[in-house]
Amino acid sequence: MLRAILRAGLAAGAIVAASAAFADDDVVNIGLILPMTGQAASTGKQEQAGAQLYLQQHGASVAGKKIALIIKDDGGAADVTKRLAQELIGNDKAKALMGFGLTPLALAVAPVATEAKVPEIVTAAATAMITEKSPYIVRTSFTLPQAAAPMAEWSLKNGIHKVVTFVTDYGPGNDAEKWFSDTFTKGGGTVVEQIRAPLKNPDFAPFLQRVKDDAPDAVFVFVPSGQGSAFMKQFAERGLDKSGIKLIGTGDVTDDDLLADIGDPALGAVTTHHYSVAHPSPENKAFVEAFKKANGGLRPNFMAVAAYDGMALVYGALEKTKGATDGDALIEAMKGASWISPRGPVSIDPQTRDIIQNIYVRKVEKVDGELYNVEFSTIEAVKDPFKAAKN
Ligand code: PHB
Repeated sequence: MLRAILRAGLAAGAIVAASAAFADDDVVNIGLILPMTGQAASTGKQEQAGAQLYLQQHGASVAGKKIALIIKDDGGAADVTKRLAQELIGNDKAKALMGFGLTPLALAVAPVATEAKVPEIVTAAATAMITEKSPYIVRTSFTLPQAAAPMAEWSLKNGIHKVVTFVTDYGPGNDAEKWFSDTFTKGGGTVVEQIRAPLKNPDFAPFLQRVKDDAPDAVFVFVPSGQGSAFMKQFAERGLDKSGIKLIGTGDVTDDDLLADIGDPALGAVTTHHYSVAHPSPENKAFVEAFKKANGGLRPNFMAVAAYDGMALVYGALEKTKGATDGDALIEAMKGASWISPRGPVSIDPQTRDIIQNIYVRKVEKVDGELYNVEFSTIEAVKDPFKAAKN
């Protein structure tokens, strides 16, 4: 246990050189590839902390094998992600790869996973089609259609008739825009304008001016984890928080670990998502307490939970295979797996290898002086609707 934890700790930043010491058959190396630097570094930090907490709590051995987490930083660059995946499989004999902070990074590894027959556990990226790119991909994060369609259903029932959508212009943003807009229009709502901002170093101000000019009932927002506070600050600077235009979206924009930084402009935002740090279950209370304790008071967000659950998935699969690490056997063992996550009950859809989970409707409120996404309604066991629509 100590060795694995030390190894994981060391590996953040510098890459551990001692792989030879772990080459024996009793050790299962898991490669965790994350953006620890660059624009998506908050995702890397949360995911690393989530995976390490699981290891600490459950011990670094399962089904007679020792578990070693090898953490590598791809800086958010897809060519680096791919090279690291190849090295982890080729040099470190990794039996599973995990992480992938952004959709293009997860996609870059799909052909590597297929060729090597090694499970690729996507614990962050959330564009719906990712799991279709390799039969070795399993996902513990979420999909944007899964989170966005319920937001449209809620809006239709709650006096919102005219909406402007505002998304980051790449896979997950385009999914969010489509699944919110299609569901909302089918139910009789009107989408006045669809605005897209670039992924890299966005200046939200000119786009927000357009939202203000359109004067909709609400603006539906998707920006990737980490960009929510820049977005919300400019939202407030433009006076949109006081304009009567409601802020709705998937929970990525009101990210739990950014809410304190965003401050009062976030109050009242209604979002749909699969995890809130305020989720009132005993499992989540224990998770949040342990996570904060291990990370200097840092709040876990949905990225941390997905990495924690990625580890739970691997441990569960190794138990089922009695320690066998053959990729096909591991994937079979993962299909249909179910467990209680800090987010609530979850399972892996055996058909699509995507996660089935509750989606919660939440509102940002102040509780004991701190801002939280307070859940007030639950849609149970939601499957990714993108794949459900095709089957
Ligand atoms: C993605 O790139 O797929 C992604 C990243 C951050 C999110 C959601 C999706 O919050």
